Amino acid sequence: MDPIETLSNEHGLIRQFLDVLSLAAEKIEDGQHPSEAFFEKGVEFARTFADHYHHFKEEHVLFVQLAQKKQGEIDAQLEALRYEHERGRSLVTGIETAIPGYAERDPIKTGELLENMAAYVSLLRHHIHVEDHVFYPMTKKTLNEQEFEAIAQEFDKQHEKHGHDTFEKCHKMVVDMGSIVTHLT
Ligand SMILES: [Fe+2]
Ligand SMILES: [Fe+2]
Repeated sequence: MDPIETLSNEHGLIRQFLDVLSLAAEKIEDGQHPSEAFFEKGVEFARTFADHYHHFKEEHVLFVQLAQKKQGEIDAQLEALRYEHERGRSLVTGIETAIPGYAERDPIKTGELLENMAAYVSLLRHHIHVEDHVFYPMTKKTLNEQEFEAIAQEFDKQHEKHGHDTFEKCHKMVVDMGSIVTHLT
């Protein structure tokens, strides 16, 4: 598959995940209490899929190839995208740290959970929008067929390493999270 299409499809699943997190935040604001298992699954998805699977391919394959081709011209843009990945990692740690206190219904920790989650959702929605509408189209214009082929091969190696069913497994995690939060009473 076209590697940019692969990344865009992954964005689709990450967006779905962000929608589920937003819904959970609304439920908490309405006085409901999604289980801590819901947020533990969320942290697992953010690390396994968004970061180790998707962001890894961008940072270690696509960005590297583009930086070489553009010879310094887009370094600032790549640095900004990398910084946002890093910021996302810190926010996920912030969510994780707040879970035990949230489970005990500590209002301060619940606030921290909501704050980190809102920042994560907003950061990644913006990040994905920029990649889909600015960065990926620029990539398509910049790289030639052989370079895309090299990226596709590197992506295949990553898919092999993580397991070819990673997307399906992670999709199921998001569906399960969605059903936990939708069926709260
Ligand atoms: Fe990214
Ligand atoms: Fe991305």
